[in-house]
Amino acid sequence: MNMMNQDIDHVLVSEEQLQAKVAELGVAISRDYAGKDLLLVSILKGSVVFMADLMRAITIPCAIDFMVVSSYGGANTSSTGLVKIIKDLDQDLSGKDVLIVEDILDTGITLSHLVPMLEMRRPNSVRLCTILSKPSRRKADIEPDYLGFEVPDEFVVGYGLDYDEKYRNLPYVGVLKPDVYAK
Ligand code: IMP
Ligand code: MG
Repeated sequence: MNMMNQDIDHVLVSEEQLQAKVAELGVAISRDYAGKDLLLVSILKGSVVFMADLMRAITIPCAIDFMVVSSYGGANTSSTGLVKIIKDLDQDLSGKDVLIVEDILDTGITLSHLVPMLEMRRPNSVRLCTILSKPSRRKADIEPDYLGFEVPDEFVVGYGLDYDEKYRNLPYVGVLKPDVYAK
Protein backbone atom coordinates (compact mmCIF):
# COMPACT_ATOMS: atom_id res chain seq x y z
CA MET A 1 0.00 0.00 0.00
CA ASN A 2 1.44 3.35 -1.09
CA MET A 3 1.12 5.81 1.82
CA MET A 4 0.77 8.71 -0.63
CA ASN A 5 -2.38 7.30 -2.28
CA GLN A 6 -4.54 8.82 0.45
CA ASP A 7 -3.47 12.32 -0.59
CA ILE A 8 -4.59 11.81 -4.20
CA ASP A 9 -8.04 12.92 -5.29
CA HIS A 10 -7.98 11.11 -8.61
CA VAL A 11 -5.52 9.47 -10.98
CA LEU A 12 -5.07 11.16 -14.36
CA VAL A 13 -2.55 8.81 -15.99
CA SER A 14 -1.97 5.33 -14.61
CA GLU A 15 1.37 3.55 -14.29
CA GLU A 16 0.35 1.18 -17.11
CA GLN A 17 -0.61 4.06 -19.43
CA LEU A 18 2.71 5.80 -18.70
CA GLN A 19 4.71 2.68 -19.42
CA ALA A 20 2.91 1.96 -22.68
CA LYS A 21 3.37 5.56 -23.84
CA VAL A 22 7.07 5.65 -22.93
CA ALA A 23 7.60 2.45 -24.94
CA GLU A 24 5.87 4.11 -27.94
CA LEU A 25 7.97 7.26 -27.60
CA GLY A 26 11.13 5.13 -27.40
CA VAL A 27 10.25 3.43 -30.68
CA ALA A 28 9.53 6.74 -32.43
CA ILE A 29 12.71 8.43 -31.15
CA SER A 30 14.87 5.40 -32.01
CA ARG A 31 13.49 5.46 -35.55
CA ASP A 32 13.72 9.25 -36.03
CA TYR A 33 17.26 9.57 -34.64
CA ALA A 34 18.83 6.46 -36.19
CA GLY A 35 22.33 7.35 -37.41
CA LYS A 36 22.35 10.68 -35.55
CA ASP A 37 24.40 11.85 -32.60
CA LEU A 38 21.53 11.90 -30.09
CA LEU A 39 21.95 13.74 -26.79
CA LEU A 40 19.11 13.54 -24.27
CA VAL A 41 19.02 16.64 -22.08
CA SER A 42 17.06 16.19 -18.87
CA ILE A 43 15.85 19.31 -17.10
CA LEU A 44 16.14 18.65 -13.37
CA LYS A 45 14.42 17.69 -11.26
CA GLY A 46 10.95 16.99 -12.63
CA SER A 47 12.12 14.95 -15.61
CA VAL A 48 14.31 12.38 -13.81
CA VAL A 49 11.67 9.65 -13.65
CA PHE A 50 10.61 10.11 -17.27
CA MET A 51 14.27 10.36 -18.37
CA ALA A 52 15.21 7.10 -16.63
CA ASP A 53 12.33 5.25 -18.31
CA LEU A 54 12.65 6.91 -21.73
CA MET A 55 16.39 6.33 -22.13
CA ARG A 56 15.86 2.60 -21.58
CA ALA A 57 13.07 2.58 -24.18
CA ILE A 58 15.49 4.04 -26.76
CA THR A 59 17.30 1.34 -28.69
CA ILE A 60 19.93 3.43 -30.50
CA PRO A 61 23.17 4.76 -28.94
CA CYS A 62 22.71 8.07 -27.17
CA ALA A 63 24.35 10.27 -24.56
CA ILE A 64 22.67 11.97 -21.63
CA ASP A 65 23.22 15.24 -19.82
CA PHE A 66 21.46 17.31 -17.18
CA MET A 67 20.60 20.95 -16.72
CA VAL A 68 19.11 23.00 -13.90
CA VAL A 69 17.35 26.18 -14.97
CA SER A 70 15.14 28.70 -13.28
CA SER A 71 12.89 31.21 -14.91
CA TYR A 72 12.30 34.50 -13.27
CA GLY A 73 9.69 37.16 -13.72
CA GLY A 74 5.97 37.13 -13.20
CA ALA A 75 3.08 36.18 -15.39
CA ASN A 76 3.91 38.58 -18.21
CA THR A 77 7.45 37.50 -18.88
CA SER A 78 6.90 36.06 -22.35
CA SER A 79 8.74 38.93 -24.02
CA THR A 80 11.22 39.87 -21.31
CA GLY A 81 11.56 36.65 -19.33
CA LEU A 82 14.96 35.09 -19.07
CA VAL A 83 16.18 31.68 -18.13
CA LYS A 84 18.93 31.48 -15.57
CA ILE A 85 21.20 28.48 -15.92
CA ILE A 86 21.93 27.10 -12.45
CA LYS A 87 23.74 23.98 -13.70
CA ASP A 88 24.91 23.91 -17.29
CA LEU A 89 25.49 20.95 -19.59
CA ASP A 90 28.87 19.22 -19.37
CA GLN A 91 29.24 18.69 -23.09
CA ASP A 92 29.63 20.71 -26.23
CA LEU A 93 26.55 20.69 -28.47
CA SER A 94 28.16 21.22 -31.88
CA GLY A 95 26.86 18.66 -34.33
CA LYS A 96 24.66 16.97 -31.73
CA ASP A 97 20.98 16.22 -32.13
CA VAL A 98 19.60 17.48 -28.84
CA LEU A 99 16.36 16.16 -27.43
CA ILE A 100 15.20 18.05 -24.35
CA VAL A 101 13.37 15.75 -21.94
CA GLU A 102 10.88 17.50 -19.66
CA ASP A 103 8.12 16.53 -17.26
CA ILE A 104 5.43 18.96 -18.41
CA LEU A 105 4.93 21.81 -20.83
CA ASP A 106 2.80 24.30 -18.94
CA THR A 107 3.03 27.98 -19.96
CA GLY A 108 6.05 27.03 -22.08
CA ILE A 109 7.85 30.19 -21.03
CA THR A 110 10.94 28.47 -19.61
CA LEU A 111 11.52 26.22 -22.59
CA SER A 112 10.71 28.90 -25.16
CA HIS A 113 13.73 30.76 -23.80
CA LEU A 114 15.95 27.74 -23.25
CA VAL A 115 15.62 26.36 -26.80
CA PRO A 116 17.17 29.45 -28.50
CA MET A 117 19.94 29.50 -25.89
CA LEU A 118 20.86 25.92 -26.79
CA GLU A 119 20.50 26.63 -30.53
CA MET A 120 23.20 29.29 -30.22
CA ARG A 121 25.65 26.51 -29.36
CA ARG A 122 25.42 25.15 -32.91
CA PRO A 123 23.81 21.76 -32.40
CA ASN A 124 22.49 19.96 -35.47
CA SER A 125 18.96 20.13 -34.04
CA VAL A 126 17.02 20.85 -30.85
CA ARG A 127 13.68 19.19 -30.20
CA LEU A 128 11.44 18.72 -27.20
CA CYS A 129 9.93 15.62 -25.59
CA THR A 130 7.55 15.98 -22.64
CA ILE A 131 5.47 13.33 -20.93
CA LEU A 132 2.70 15.83 -20.09
CA SER A 133 1.28 19.02 -21.58
CA LYS A 134 -1.32 21.51 -20.38
CA PRO A 135 -2.30 23.17 -23.67
CA SER A 136 -4.86 25.47 -22.01
CA ARG A 137 -2.07 27.12 -20.01
CA ARG A 138 0.23 27.93 -22.93
CA LYS A 139 1.61 31.46 -23.10
CA ALA A 140 4.64 30.93 -25.32
CA ASP A 141 4.72 29.71 -28.91
CA ILE A 142 6.13 26.24 -28.28
CA GLU A 143 4.79 22.70 -28.54
CA PRO A 144 6.44 19.34 -27.80
CA ASP A 145 7.80 17.39 -30.77
CA TYR A 146 7.11 14.22 -28.78
CA LEU A 147 4.27 14.18 -26.26
CA GLY A 148 2.88 11.65 -23.83
CA PHE A 149 -0.45 12.99 -22.57
CA GLU A 150 -2.44 16.20 -22.52
CA VAL A 151 -3.80 17.00 -19.06
CA PRO A 152 -6.41 19.55 -17.97
CA ASP A 153 -5.55 22.72 -16.09
CA GLU A 154 -5.17 21.07 -12.70
CA PHE A 155 -2.08 20.84 -10.53
CA VAL A 156 -0.68 17.35 -10.97
CA VAL A 157 1.91 15.33 -9.05
CA GLY A 158 3.74 12.06 -9.52
CA TYR A 159 6.04 10.55 -12.14
CA GLY A 160 8.63 13.20 -11.27
CA LEU A 161 6.28 16.12 -10.65
CA ASP A 162 6.20 17.52 -7.14
CA TYR A 163 4.17 19.51 -4.71
CA ASP A 164 6.58 21.13 -2.23
CA GLU A 165 9.27 18.64 -3.37
CA LYS A 166 7.11 15.64 -2.50
CA TYR A 167 5.14 13.06 -4.53
CA ARG A 168 7.82 12.83 -7.24
CA ASN A 169 8.13 9.11 -6.49
CA LEU A 170 4.47 8.30 -7.13
CA PRO A 171 4.43 5.86 -10.08
CA TYR A 172 1.36 7.50 -11.64
CA VAL A 173 0.15 11.07 -12.35
CA GLY A 174 -2.64 12.31 -10.13
CA VAL A 175 -4.37 15.35 -8.71
CA LEU A 176 -3.86 16.17 -5.03
CA LYS A 177 -6.79 16.49 -2.65
CA PRO A 178 -7.47 20.17 -1.88
CA ASP A 179 -6.89 19.67 1.86
CA VAL A 180 -3.27 18.71 1.20
CA TYR A 181 -2.55 22.29 0.05
CA ALA A 182 -4.29 23.67 3.12
CA LYS A 183 -1.91 21.91 5.53
P1 IMP B 1 6.52 26.48 -17.78
O1 IMP B 1 6.12 25.61 -18.95
O2 IMP B 1 7.62 27.44 -18.09
O3 IMP B 1 5.30 27.19 -17.21
O4 IMP B 1 7.11 25.61 -16.59
C1 IMP B 1 6.83 24.26 -16.48
C2 IMP B 1 7.40 23.77 -15.17
O5 IMP B 1 6.51 24.10 -14.09
C3 IMP B 1 7.49 22.26 -15.18
O6 IMP B 1 8.75 21.83 -15.60
C4 IMP B 1 7.16 21.87 -13.76
O7 IMP B 1 8.35 21.83 -13.00
C5 IMP B 1 6.29 22.99 -13.26
N1 IMP B 1 4.86 22.59 -13.32
C6 IMP B 1 3.93 23.05 -14.19
N2 IMP B 1 2.73 22.50 -13.96
C7 IMP B 1 2.90 21.65 -12.92
C8 IMP B 1 1.99 20.76 -12.21
O8 IMP B 1 0.79 20.62 -12.49
N3 IMP B 1 2.55 20.06 -11.19
C9 IMP B 1 3.86 20.16 -10.83
N4 IMP B 1 4.74 20.97 -11.47
C10 IMP B 1 4.26 21.71 -12.50
MG1 MG C 1 10.42 21.07 -14.09
